[in-house]
Amino acid sequence: QTPSDLVIAIDGTSGSGKSSTSRGVADRLGLRYLDTGAMFRAMTWWLLRQGIDVRDGDAVAARCEEPEILSGTDPTGPGIVVDGIDVGRAIRTDEVNAAVSHVSVVPAVRTRLLHLQRDVIDGGGIVVEGRDIGSVVWPQAQLKLYLTADPGARAARRAAEAGGADVASTRESLLSRDRIDSGRATAPLTMADGAVHLDTTPYSLDEVIDQVVALAEAAGERR
Ligand code: DC
Repeated sequence: QTPSDLVIAIDGTSGSGKSSTSRGVADRLGLRYLDTGAMFRAMTWWLLRQGIDVRDGDAVAARCEEPEILSGTDPTGPGIVVDGIDVGRAIRTDEVNAAVSHVSVVPAVRTRLLHLQRDVIDGGGIVVEGRDIGSVVWPQAQLKLYLTADPGARAARRAAEAGGADVASTRESLLSRDRIDSGRATAPLTMADGAVHLDTTPYSLDEVIDQVVALAEAAGERR
């Protein structure tokens, strides 16, 4: 039995299979799901729409309390709404992909979203995916995973998701985001204390989900 207060933190690089794995695990175990990357994307979408230069950290910090960001937690269709607008599709554009790492280095943005994230996670029964969930957002998670995959495999996956985008440019864009995500001063992408490292390269999605579900069941039994 999975305890209802279980929190599973799934961190890792872009395209490591985090989203599909997290949603699959939540669906399988009847847990809620939170995509924290979508919250950073939603913030980025809103800033771009206001005409704010996302490379100007002071300008970003000055406005980042303004948008109302609501994250759904249904693993089969979480939904994300900014100031009443459903931005589920709008946050996946190349423009947002290119801007989001710059927005997510700004400490004021991270602080604002951290509060929103903890409000959703509170009470548990949730799979949370991001970059700093096990290290910063919810270090007390009963199960922490750190997912990685070979860059070629990740680019091929992402390009296919994007309906046949160019693999080489997708690979460059992923590696560039990894560099910024890992190099930033506040809450960089890192393997949290006590996290289990899973390299997903050789496995199918179902195999990865099976492994995480087994770890979640073991984590539940240990308590
Ligand atoms: O998981 P994703 O590709 O949708 O995330 C988009 C960006 O958001 C990613 O480049 C880094 C940032 N992010 C973050 O800094 N911290 C998180 N917990 C989740 C995402």
